Formats: sequence, structure tokens, C-alpha cells
Amino acid sequence: MTNTDSRVTIHMAASLDGFIARKDGRVDWMDVSDEFAGGDIMAPEFVEAFLKTIDCYVMGSRTYETALNFEAKGFGWAYGDKPTFVLTSRELPRTRNTVEFYSGDLAQLVNGRLRPRFRSIWFAGGGAVSGECLRRGLADEVRYSILPVLIGDGIRFFENLDRDVSLHLTEVKAYKSGMVAICYEVRD
Ligand SMILES: NC(=O)c1ccc[n+]([C@@H]2O[C@H](COP(=O)([O-])OP(=O)(O)OC[C@H]3O[C@@H](n4cnc5c(N)ncnc54)[C@H](OP(=O)(O)O)[C@@H]3O)[C@@H](O)[C@H]2O)c1
Repeated sequence: MTNTDSRVTIHMAASLDGFIARKDGRVDWMDVSDEFAGGDIMAPEFVEAFLKTIDCYVMGSRTYETALNFEAKGFGWAYGDKPTFVLTSRELPRTRNTVEFYSGDLAQLVNGRLRPRFRSIWFAGGGAVSGECLRRGLADEVRYSILPVLIGDGIRFFENLDRDVSLHLTEVKAYKSGMVAICYEVRD
């Protein structure tokens, strides 16, 4: 049975010119420093409470590999104890029980397996998987955190998007750090 209350969200942080990583995958540019006097502060309690509302994560293998590298460097695992579905056709290391690998049709995974089980389904990237998710009409909303930096080139927020997608703006919030978080509902 399909969970009609389920919601598929794509969320990533990107440069103002729409890149989520450099071409070689580096995200060093995310360490920005800015101050917007009228901005909000992202309180840790708020972030913690918000993360609790997410029921599962979906990501591409290259994003997973970045997450493993971060963890190996001591920055921790960003996805807590939530089920995390990693799209890959390769054999990758599985460092925790919450990680499940999937290879095959994305619509089958989202509509056939995730929507019946989970309410809040988060696509954590990267550009290839987010592009496919939108192209296939599987996303309900896009959350975009714009960082105060331009990097000129890199991996796009949505790779290989071959059609227009109409959006409806539902939230905008500017933060003291110079980040602007926007949320759009996918219209079609
Ligand atoms: N700024 C941010 O918020 C943010 C967020 C996320 C990621 N990133 C960055 O983005 C970069 C990764 O993005 P990306 O676009 O290069 O890659 P990606 O979307 O993370 O992963 C793409 C890979 O996933 C696998 N895949 C995708 N669909 C599949 C399917 N249906 N079945 C089986 N496998 C499938 C394929 O790899 P294989 O089959 O070869 O494994 C494909 O090459 C990293 O540098 C990461 O750090 C940034």
C-alpha cells in the first residue's frame, strides 16, 4: 500500500552559481565566512529536532564515498541512525547496518519500497541522483541552501536535467552566516 502522506525532499547546499562540489568532488569552498546582520542563527536544538523528522536518506554512491571520507577524517556520520539507501552498481564498503545498497530503477525504489514505509524521504545528493529524481517526477520539494560564494565550475545541483520543472516557493530564510535557505514545492 502506498503511503500518500509520504514526501520526497531533495536537499543540498550549493554555491550561488549552482554547484554542489568542484569537478573533482572537493567541497573545501563550503567553509565560508560571512556575516549578515539581520540573519537568523541556526540553533543546534532546532537542527536536532528537524533531523528527527527525517525518516530515511537516499544518496548516490559518490556522495556516500564523500560521507565515508568525512567519517574517516573524524567529522562523523551525518545521517545518524536513519536508514540510508545508497544507489550503486559497485561493491562498496558497508560501515554500518543502517546502510543498504540499491541498484536498479529509481522510481521502483522510491514508489515501490520507500513511499509505503517512510513519511519523510530525503535525497541527500549528489547532482546525478538529484537530477534523475527530478527528471523522473519523483520529488515533492527541493530545499536549497545557498552559500555566499561563487566557484565558477563544478558538479551542478541537478545534472542532466532535460526539461523545465515549475516550482512554487514555500519558504525563505536568511542566516547570520550569509546562507539563504529556500524551499520550493515541485509543481508538476
Ligand atoms: N553540497 C552538497 O550539499 C552536496 C550534497 C551531496 C553531495 N555533494 C557532492 O557531490 C558529489 C557527488 O555527486 P555526483 O553527482 O558526482 O554523484 P552522486 O549523485 O552522489 O552519485 C552518482 C552515482 O550513483 C550511482 N547510481 C545513480 N543512480 C543509480 C541507480 N539507479 N542504480 C545504481 N547506481 C546508481 C552511480 O554510480 P556507481 O553505479 O558507479 O556506483 C552514479 O555514478 C560529491 O563530490 C559530493 O561531495 C555535495
